[in-house]
Amino acid sequence: MNSSPVSLSLLSLWWLASTFFLLAGNPTSVESHHILGLFVNVHRSQLMVHLAVCRALLQKGHHVTLVTTLPLKEQEIRGNVSHILIPWKQTEEENHNGSSFDIVLHLQRMFRRLEHSGDLLNLPEWKGFLKEPPTTPYDLLLLGYHFNDHLLGVAAHFNCPVAIISTQQPTGFVNSIMGNPEERWYVPQPYDSRQRTGVSAWIFGVWEKLMEAMARRVLARIYSLHFPEPRYPSFETMRRSVVLALSNHHMISEGPIAPLLPNMVDIGGIVLEQKLNDSSHERTASNRSLIIFSLGTRFTWRKSSPKLLQTFTNAFDQFPDYDIYWTYDGPNRSAISLDYPHIKVGKWWPQRQLLESGKVRLFITHGGKGSLSEALYYGVPLLGLPLIGDQRANLQKMQSKNWGLTLSTHNLTHLELSKTMDRIIRYPIYAKSISEASKIYRDRPMKSSDLATYWIEYIIRHKGAKNLYNPARHLNFIEYYSIDVYVTIYGALILTITVLRKIDRLL
Ligand SMILES: *[C@@H]1O[C@H](CO)[C@@H](O)[C@H](O)[C@H]1NC(C)=O
Ligand SMILES: *[C@@H]1O[C@H](CO)[C@@H](O)[C@H](O)[C@H]1NC(C)=O
Ligand SMILES: *[C@@H]1O[C@H](CO)[C@@H](O)[C@H](O)[C@H]1NC(C)=O
Ligand SMILES: *[C@@H]1O[C@H](CO)[C@@H](O)[C@H](O)[C@H]1NC(C)=O
Ligand SMILES: *[C@@H]1O[C@H](CO)[C@@H](O)[C@H](O)[C@H]1NC(C)=O
Repeated sequence: MNSSPVSLSLLSLWWLASTFFLLAGNPTSVESHHILGLFVNVHRSQLMVHLAVCRALLQKGHHVTLVTTLPLKEQEIRGNVSHILIPWKQTEEENHNGSSFDIVLHLQRMFRRLEHSGDLLNLPEWKGFLKEPPTTPYDLLLLGYHFNDHLLGVAAHFNCPVAIISTQQPTGFVNSIMGNPEERWYVPQPYDSRQRTGVSAWIFGVWEKLMEAMARRVLARIYSLHFPEPRYPSFETMRRSVVLALSNHHMISEGPIAPLLPNMVDIGGIVLEQKLNDSSHERTASNRSLIIFSLGTRFTWRKSSPKLLQTFTNAFDQFPDYDIYWTYDGPNRSAISLDYPHIKVGKWWPQRQLLESGKVRLFITHGGKGSLSEALYYGVPLLGLPLIGDQRANLQKMQSKNWGLTLSTHNLTHLELSKTMDRIIRYPIYAKSISEASKIYRDRPMKSSDLATYWIEYIIRHKGAKNLYNPARHLNFIEYYSIDVYVTIYGALILTITVLRKIDRLL
């Protein structure tokens, strides 16, 4: 405590020196930007991708303000980050037991969900967020994109450029926002469970475009309610203003090969390339082989039938030489462990650490994009049990590449299940195919984290980077497909032929 004059002067000398080096010795230090991450009404698996992009930005010294409807775990995100939590969960009325395949009912439910996604914007917490101006202005809005075009109004509100993150291969929505050609006759779409090409793909495309147009009308209505003209630009103007689309996809290894604009950037694997906090390291020191079983965060065992539970326990009983890690949140957890010592049931397993151990012989999954990326990254063969959404299409693609097999959950029997598991484990073709694909997946010129931060900084550096826009975004349907040109040319041709024929007949 008794500070002598000598130590004081030493201290000030050190302070002077360090200030000098900070100011002079660091010419490459990048400017810190303030980025607004808006990740509301998304699933946990999607949020993981969004947070991975934010982690990459934070690591570069940027300031991120996060707005989420899901709570964040403390160790998930660190750095100069502010968090605004707007607790809200859209009520799920559906019950994924797969009994109803009624398409009308399904569509009704989908559109009702879309209508109600606007309810979030009525919450006082949301209004508070919009009212509160940030201390330093936002340089960019990063929107977790999931059928929520109406939220683009937030970029207009804070007057900053906007980039979107989607968690899969670009959908029709994303392509239409960016003006990316779809070429559907040879590019199977992410929501097409049959992965069609050719004429049937074209017909499916007309159907999908119709649905898209209807959905867009709902979103436009929500937008104009909360971001009315003339105070805000129109819905269509905001859709055309998106400057960058990051996709959690890797076209080169996952396919399908498709044209992609330069401002649509694949960042597939961004979650996996970031190192884990290894404190909860894998407990099993034994060298028994492992099987992992998880149906994802959107499925709950609490509401599933006892029969389904029986199907799985009976099938797993046939594999006593494997440790089976089962993500299970239902009743009777201790009873299962007691009856089957090799089955480990738990609400959560360090899935990535298990996969990384190299001892996993089979991954039984619902086919969500996140799980498939994990399997691909670590080269583990799959057994798919699709439940909803794009999972059927994901698994169809996976099976066609021999990365594993897919079963239906509808009338699944334990015999069918154990036979298929056995087949995937025993025939080396599956493990071999996915481990080769894994090598391609990891072979990249640049890490996805660096790619994402590069493009985000690029946009801010170049004041919105208007140079990236595809002019096709400003064309309407007729102009885009040159229908007016064709009509003129063929019209003139037909007219000429008709006139010539008439003249011929007269002569
Ligand atoms: C965080 O970023 C803001 C700029 O948005 C800056 O004023 C503040 O000093 C930063 N905090 C830290 C701890 O770096
Ligand atoms: C890892 O996470 C634990 C909590 O789960 C935390 O206590 C620890 O500090 C973290 N370690 C690192 C290096 O971040
Ligand atoms: C692991 O396997 C090797 C042979 O593959 C065996 O010699 C060794 O005892 C095993 N270790 C454990 C802990 O089971
Ligand atoms: C729990 O397991 C016991 C026997 O294993 C069974 O009798 C009981 O019905 C189970 N309870 C539920 C809720 O499944
Ligand atoms: C399940 O049902 C489908 C048709 O819905 C049928 O093709 C399949 O064979 C059935 N599987 C079993 C194991 O009964």
